[in-house]
Amino acid sequence: MSDALENPPITPEAVDAAVQAALAAIAAASGTAELKAARAAHTAEGSPLAKLNARMREVPPEQKAEFGKLVGQARGRVNQALSAREEELAAAETAAKLEAERIDVTALPQRARVGARHPISLLQEEISDIFVGMGWEIAEGPELEHEWFNFDALNVDPDHPARTEQDTFYVDPVTRHLVLRTQTSPVQMRSMLERDIPIYVLSPGKVYRTDEFDATHLPVFHQFEGLVVDKGITMAHLKGTLDHAARVLFGPEAKTRFRANYFPFTEPSAELDLWHPTFKGGARWIEWGGCGMINPNVLRAAGIDPEEYSGFAFGMGIERTLMFRSDVQDMRDMAEGDVRFSEQFGMVV
Ligand code: DAH
Repeated sequence: MSDALENPPITPEAVDAAVQAALAAIAAASGTAELKAARAAHTAEGSPLAKLNARMREVPPEQKAEFGKLVGQARGRVNQALSAREEELAAAETAAKLEAERIDVTALPQRARVGARHPISLLQEEISDIFVGMGWEIAEGPELEHEWFNFDALNVDPDHPARTEQDTFYVDPVTRHLVLRTQTSPVQMRSMLERDIPIYVLSPGKVYRTDEFDATHLPVFHQFEGLVVDKGITMAHLKGTLDHAARVLFGPEAKTRFRANYFPFTEPSAELDLWHPTFKGGARWIEWGGCGMINPNVLRAAGIDPEEYSGFAFGMGIERTLMFRSDVQDMRDMAEGDVRFSEQFGMVV
């Protein structure tokens, strides 16, 4: 390869060709690394421009100024293009980096929904706390119950209409006499058989009836049952206990009243009404549940001497209580499990 090709003499065309090649490489550089390579190839030692510059020595003195200017301007243009492109690329790279690291402060956090406790569970706990606060214990019984505990032990005769009136779910085979308990009252007998006197227990839980599923009935619902067996227990104790529970749940103006009624397991028995001072439609009496003094036959069936001990019992529905306490119009909302219903009662855990 001749020196002329390797090292072309300084001519405006050669200078222009070197400048055009440099500018094309600079424009094509798509990152700072490529630009650095273009700078090396077109301005550093060994580059066409550097070689042209080296040939300044050979230029006759009278042409030195002219050629010096030509080469100097060429180098100036290339350097200017380099810095401009360098700035452009740096800005683009910073912008890309910022974009990649961007945090959208308005975005909703990707949190798992925490859900909400069911209001029936919350109310059941609140009611339990009232009684635990008075020194009572919480008693449990099975939901699949023996017919004897659900009816016979509660002094309900075999052909008493209550057994059908209560619309019982009998469980196959019927010869095993198992039912889905229709009330929490069977826990009364279980508690009397299992515990020593004095007995002060509250038993909340699920009960089952072949009821329609409508605004005021559910085939599965909850009750809370109270049972006390001790010496010298009277109806005044029952009334005082229920008034206290009413005040805690419905405010200091709340109270209860009894209306004579019949339950086979209590004597005397009463329908229990609640004075609800903050009821949505205005203060009023609302039927709340049943109660009474434990029938001596029931005490005897549990091996407790009715001459020595007496007691009282009561039973109320928790869904019903929630309905008039929190103004729930339709009981089905309590069974459907929509978290938006539960959330209205607070996120208490
Ligand atoms: N078990 C009754 C029911 O489900 C309610 C009841 C009434 C419970 C009187 C009692 C009571 O403990 O003494 O309708």
